[in-house]
Amino acid sequence: MYQERIRLPRLHDKVMEADEAAKLIRDGMVVGMSGFTRAGDCKAVPFALARRAADEPFSITLMTGASLGNDIDKVLSQAGVIARRLPFQSDETLRRKINAGEVMFIDQHLSETVEQLRGGQIAPIDVAVVEAAAITEQGGIVPTTSVGNSASFAMLAKKVIVEINLNMPLALEGLHDIAFPVQRPHRQPIPLISVDQRIGLPYIPVDPEKIAAIVITAKDDSPSNVLPPDAETRQIAGHLIAFLDREVRAGRLSPSLQPLQAGIGTISNAVLHGLIDSPFSDLKMYSEVLQDSTIELLDAGRLSFASASSVTLSRDVYARFLSRLDHYRSRVLLRPQEISNHPEVIRRLGLITINTALECDIYGNVNSTHVLGTHMMNGIGGSGDFARNAHLSVFVTKSIAKGGNISSVVPMVAHVDHTEHDVDIIVTEHGLADLRGLAPRERAREIINHCADPLYRDALRDYVARASVRGGQTPHLLEEAFAWHLRYRDHGSMREDGPLAAAVQKKEPACA
Ligand code: COA
Repeated sequence: MYQERIRLPRLHDKVMEADEAAKLIRDGMVVGMSGFTRAGDCKAVPFALARRAADEPFSITLMTGASLGNDIDKVLSQAGVIARRLPFQSDETLRRKINAGEVMFIDQHLSETVEQLRGGQIAPIDVAVVEAAAITEQGGIVPTTSVGNSASFAMLAKKVIVEINLNMPLALEGLHDIAFPVQRPHRQPIPLISVDQRIGLPYIPVDPEKIAAIVITAKDDSPSNVLPPDAETRQIAGHLIAFLDREVRAGRLSPSLQPLQAGIGTISNAVLHGLIDSPFSDLKMYSEVLQDSTIELLDAGRLSFASASSVTLSRDVYARFLSRLDHYRSRVLLRPQEISNHPEVIRRLGLITINTALECDIYGNVNSTHVLGTHMMNGIGGSGDFARNAHLSVFVTKSIAKGGNISSVVPMVAHVDHTEHDVDIIVTEHGLADLRGLAPRERAREIINHCADPLYRDALRDYVARASVRGGQTPHLLEEAFAWHLRYRDHGSMREDGPLAAAVQKKEPACA
């Protein structure tokens, strides 16, 4: 059965068990694995590594495209296999180890990892482990539901282990477009001028001699774990759609808008979902991950094309997508993440980017990663790649968290991922702050009036008023700037009167 998927016959004798293949990975090595937001991860070798570590402790640097599914990060971190991890994760167990200082986590812009590898700025990859639907007659690797960093990992690694996943339909072949920026000093512009353009190959071109092992698997990706839209996320979507509609009426956008990017998570997915009932048509996506909302928009005829680096879907939508690949193949395309997230392309295409903030401050700086300024949630992911270079950079968040004990609009964010210079629009369930062309003092008014929860508005206005007396381009009371975070840490609520604090017995950081 698997022989028909390995179309270069001389590779047939490379097929072996995962435990045998995993022996290629030794203590201290740098390993690049496929996988991007739970899609297209390797499903056998990581578990073989964890089994071996039970008898023979060892650790590695693990690089991926982004987060992994199938509890891989959990199993590997429990087994003590991960010493360093980059560039993104979203696993609870690994997160705990990162926040305990037991795993060194390098939180990177997703477009940058392979740039740094290629330039020798970070340690080179010893072994790449890549999931594939097939190997071509020339030894090219056909990826599955994500491309992520797999192509560069395979090309840059000394040895490659391929996991052929029999559950992945062969019809995936042709969905991918593998292209790379040329090495400097001969770098050329990336010749991508429309979302649906193909500029590369439908497989990863590797030297077959480097394929040291092939492991056969038959396991699905983990389903996505985003929650369905709720009242607040519908309101967020409503505010954003009304704003975009005003932009169309003012002649600043066409009815098909500009290509859209939407970040991971429940809120972004819900916002995109809201576009199903919008007045816009012939929409296009140029994003890094496609969630359920993309497939729903395609099926509803609102979206005409979606380019990304992975597809991460709930169980039912995943089954629908994989069984109708002949239909979707002319509407969906997967690229390496250094192309999907490339600043040059994002700026050229003029994207409208929609990413999620944990918190923002009154001047529009955004924290997407660090709970209370210290504890890692997931990582910056691609949000910086997109926000910095967008035509219109939108951040969405619910105005409060943890039952109202946290305000997502604070005097000063306790960690900055996106500076005020990279944020055009902030939206919460209460409204939308359009920050374009505004100075910090004007931004504060707009954000507090439209985005903050009424529970916290007066306290924010009071802060701005007292800070403004002291003067400055960006007025602050530095001795008070983090008082809200400290109150939450020490008393369980950011509210000064703390009426909600009594309900909280003992408060741990939200993602400790
Ligand atoms: N302080 C502390 N915790 C907060 C918070 C704040 N200001 N705001 C939200 N949270 C908590 C929520 O309570 C929730 O916790 P729980 O899981 O214990 O219930 C958690 O953060 C997630 O919030 P949720 O409202 O469910 O949002 P989400 O699923 O859309 O995720 C991010 C939001 C910010 C964590 C997520 O989008 C992310 O990791 N972003 C960074 C990477 C990125 O933007 N990539 C984009 C390109 S793909």
